[in-house]
Amino acid sequence: MTYQEIMENARKNMGGFCNACKECNGVVCKTKIPGPGAKGTGEVFQRNYAKLQEIKINLDTIFEDEPVDTSVELFGKKFRYPVFAAPIGAMKLHYGEMHDDITYNVELVAGCKDAGIAAFTGDGINPQVYGGALQSIKAAGGIGVPTIKPWDVELVKEKIRQAEEADAMAVATDIDASGLALLKNVPTPVSPKSVAELREITQSTKLPVIVKGIMTVRGALKALEAGAYGIVISNHGGRVLDQTPATVEVLPAIAQAVGGRMKIFIDGGIRTGLDVFKVLALGADAVLIGRPYVTAVYGGGAEGAVVYTQKVGIELAETMAMTGANKLSDINKEMLYL
Ligand SMILES: Cc1cc2nc3c(=O)[nH]c(=O)nc-3n(C[C@H](O)[C@H](O)[C@H](O)COP(=O)(O)O)c2cc1C
Repeated sequence: MTYQEIMENARKNMGGFCNACKECNGVVCKTKIPGPGAKGTGEVFQRNYAKLQEIKINLDTIFEDEPVDTSVELFGKKFRYPVFAAPIGAMKLHYGEMHDDITYNVELVAGCKDAGIAAFTGDGINPQVYGGALQSIKAAGGIGVPTIKPWDVELVKEKIRQAEEADAMAVATDIDASGLALLKNVPTPVSPKSVAELREITQSTKLPVIVKGIMTVRGALKALEAGAYGIVISNHGGRVLDQTPATVEVLPAIAQAVGGRMKIFIDGGIRTGLDVFKVLALGADAVLIGRPYVTAVYGGGAEGAVVYTQKVGIELAETMAMTGANKLSDINKEMLYL
């Protein structure tokens, strides 16, 4: 299956909210929630994308020729690319009938593993969503990161224990989901967590814990103090708070504050291997990509996830070959035109 065919299929298979646009930039779906849009004015999704496009790359091909190596080591494992699928939940609500969260994660987790990377999976009020994700991750030999909503501490710890039983290689919590109105008036509501509560969570397991939804240096330092293995610089694709900066705008300061002391993942508007190169040059260790993986899976199932990952990986390798970066650690800020 080609990427073109996957995109054409996705356009047929998506519900009415997502158009599977050639450029997934938040323009057409701007404020569509339900759907893949963003909160309030819808500007944050667009800004994530636009600020990345403003950064340009310096071409330089005078260097010693060596094979390009795009691999990265994280969670004690080697991955083909520094790219992971972001957790996306409530599939039927936002993308139509083709997939529920369970069938989406079956395809996504398997496809990402086949492509040499891994998927983060979502969580929901219905316990079958998290349970189904764990089944997919177990079937993939633990190659996946279940992402737990910031429920009360005891429930988060219980879900971490379930992740351990499924042999998951790491766990994450999308701490910024404490802002999701849909999860406030439920029997076990989400809530912000203090540093002490986060520490209790990280200390309850030997698994690496990633805190997703960090947008400030202060937030990153608090996650570090709480013992997190890493953070995801993320504004939830603009879905939890309007008028935040783009994720790439806050990346350099956060990387300067905590880089080398914890792993830095970033998401928001990353679409191509060129975008991956840009954020690695600004201090990220790896990226998460959200909405385009939904398009890929709706258009081609697990194979769609493989094809899209390969496309991003090839673009990254080509960019490295045109800038003098033989391995990921060679990528630096000098390679960008800011
Ligand atoms: C429809 C939709 C549902 C999402 N559900 C979740 C979720 O359940 N858990 C989570 O951590 N993030 C969720 N996110 C946020 C994504 O993981 C990611 O942070 C965001 O989409 C930004 O990346 P992108 O611009 O590549 O899509 C969701 C995003 C969308 C669009």
